[in-house]
Amino acid sequence: MTARLLDGRQTAAAIRAEVAAQVERRRQQGLPPPGLAAVLVGDNPASQVYVRNKHKACQQVGMASWVHQLPADISQERLLDFLQELNADPRVHGILVQLPLPRHIDEFAVQQAVLPSKDVDGFHPENAGLLALGRPRFYPCTPHGVLQLLWRAGYDTLGKEVVIVGRSNIVGKPLALMLLQKRTAQNPAGGEATVTVVHTRSRDLPALCRRAEILVVAAGVPGIITAEMVAPGAIVVDVGIHSVEGRLVGDVHPQVAQIAAALSPVPGGVGPMTIAMLLVNTLQAAEHIDS
Ligand code: GUN
Repeated sequence: MTARLLDGRQTAAAIRAEVAAQVERRRQQGLPPPGLAAVLVGDNPASQVYVRNKHKACQQVGMASWVHQLPADISQERLLDFLQELNADPRVHGILVQLPLPRHIDEFAVQQAVLPSKDVDGFHPENAGLLALGRPRFYPCTPHGVLQLLWRAGYDTLGKEVVIVGRSNIVGKPLALMLLQKRTAQNPAGGEATVTVVHTRSRDLPALCRRAEILVVAAGVPGIITAEMVAPGAIVVDVGIHSVEGRLVGDVHPQVAQIAAALSPVPGGVGPMTIAMLLVNTLQAAEHIDS
């Protein structure tokens, strides 16, 4: 048996269509388009691709989008000043600073400099805190993309054994919080799972992973999850993306497709979902500001 494909391209396209309809409704009401400012520091090739894809997605749904490419040697002070300008710009509803940043820049200081109401990544400590307390403002895009990919494929996390491989601030930690949250009428997707977070230092990673009915892998190590680490019939979501010998691969070894009931591909799985959820957050930011 090979696993059912969790098609992120198709699911993301459906979400973009929903967002585009809301952007059009705003236009008919005489409201300005939601606007996203993306800040790219330096010339990391992968980051350039990600930012370009985010920009294209904004244009596709009728949003305003600006890409600010800043030199790799920009001082932290100048970068923080630049963010203050974006904070004050009424056309900009969402601000995204692409990670990773050059080593001389303090990532935490940058995340604190973005106005929390424009922090569509959900990285500001105020927004991270609100999420932890069950009062989310913006769901971080990648974990939200994972939950939407599962939900829209018909997989409910309620009561399920979910194992997350990876403990990053961008994926593992916020995903764990989201999987614990109680569902609401506004947010019926996800939550109410039994959550285990494991990582590269966990003892007996294979045994822990085999407990999962739903396994989400965001370890950042190509092919780390092999077939013997997956329970037959598990649902597997691969958040990893790596360029290996000119090909894009994930954290999940291809042989897992013979064991799992469903698997998200790389590319074409979580990646497009992350961008779709960024559009959702930018729309939400605009709706709050204008109302
Ligand atoms: N780098 C890798 N993932 C992300 C993300 O979700 N947001 C930003 N800003 N940078 C990233």
